[in-house]
Amino acid sequence: MDHERHPDLDAFQPDEGEYSLRPKRLGEYIGQEKIKARLEIALQAAKKRGEVLDHVLLFGPPGLGKTTLAHVLANEMGAPCKVIQAPALEKKGDIAAILTNLEEGEFLFIDEIHRLPAAIEELLYAAMEDRKLDILIGQGPSAQTLKVDLRPFTLVGATTRAGLISKPLHDRFGMVHRLDYYSRPELAVIADRSAHVLKIEMAAAGGEAIARRSRGTPRICNRLLRRCRDYAEVKGQGIITAEIADACLKLHEVDDLGLDGLDRDYLEALCGKFKGGPVGVRTLAAALGEGDGGALEDLVEPYLMQIGFLDRTQQGRRATEAAYSYLGLKPSPGPLFG
Ligand code: ADE
Repeated sequence: MDHERHPDLDAFQPDEGEYSLRPKRLGEYIGQEKIKARLEIALQAAKKRGEVLDHVLLFGPPGLGKTTLAHVLANEMGAPCKVIQAPALEKKGDIAAILTNLEEGEFLFIDEIHRLPAAIEELLYAAMEDRKLDILIGQGPSAQTLKVDLRPFTLVGATTRAGLISKPLHDRFGMVHRLDYYSRPELAVIADRSAHVLKIEMAAAGGEAIARRSRGTPRICNRLLRRCRDYAEVKGQGIITAEIADACLKLHEVDDLGLDGLDRDYLEALCGKFKGGPVGVRTLAAALGEGDGGALEDLVEPYLMQIGFLDRTQQGRRATEAAYSYLGLKPSPGPLFG
């Protein structure tokens, strides 16, 4: 699926500088308090018993820190972490090579784990449960299966689509955690921490102005911070004040709720062309030139639902009254409001 991406989708792509901003320890990781409390216990227990950490499944929208958390866990266990993208695995041999090369205690992070080919997923079942790998040698009637023992390892799987994980795979994770959007105060702390790491001068109100428009997402917060740094250096005195942040984000057409051009195009199509729905995501995607709708489902809709602008129903997507008032429109008379 190689269509032109809406420029606003780039805001969700990891960027080079992101790595340096990642917290390395659980204590530095801001937010997700419940998940951290559960992981802290699991880490301490595993260390106390001298065992590896149980396999962990992380799900939630992009940019909330799933990869970061995987690295933090490996770091806390004093172990290395290999990272692979599920779509890059094509043949059983690909995963077999990776698993047999893992060192004792090593972490394997599989991103987008819902996109694993079925045959590879099936190999993972025994690898996760019994640390065994079935390798087929030869072909036809003389083919033999060889059982290879694997060294103890921890698999961390990440997905934006919990609903697309098969039950057998899901059941093999000892822990399943759903990452939530971050609160504004948490994002303000993340902005402050990142400003400190990047040696950017920022007023508290500047950090709050960025946090407010980060749509609950640290990746977006850090990206906006960089844009505001540029703006402050060119148009101001190098200090991110509330005025600088406001002017910069206005220039980038990020509004007070953090919604960008694609969010607005989506809402305008839903409320205008489709009269508030219900309409299927594929139809909406076709109207917006957004491929099969996967990007809308991952990147646009979760936040619109979070802020109460969108309902996902069996019949399709529906705009809420709040979405209409945001656009300054009157709701269409229809089954939803009639
Ligand atoms: N940078 C990105 N996500 C973060 C988090 N949750 N805590 C601290 N820094 C971060």
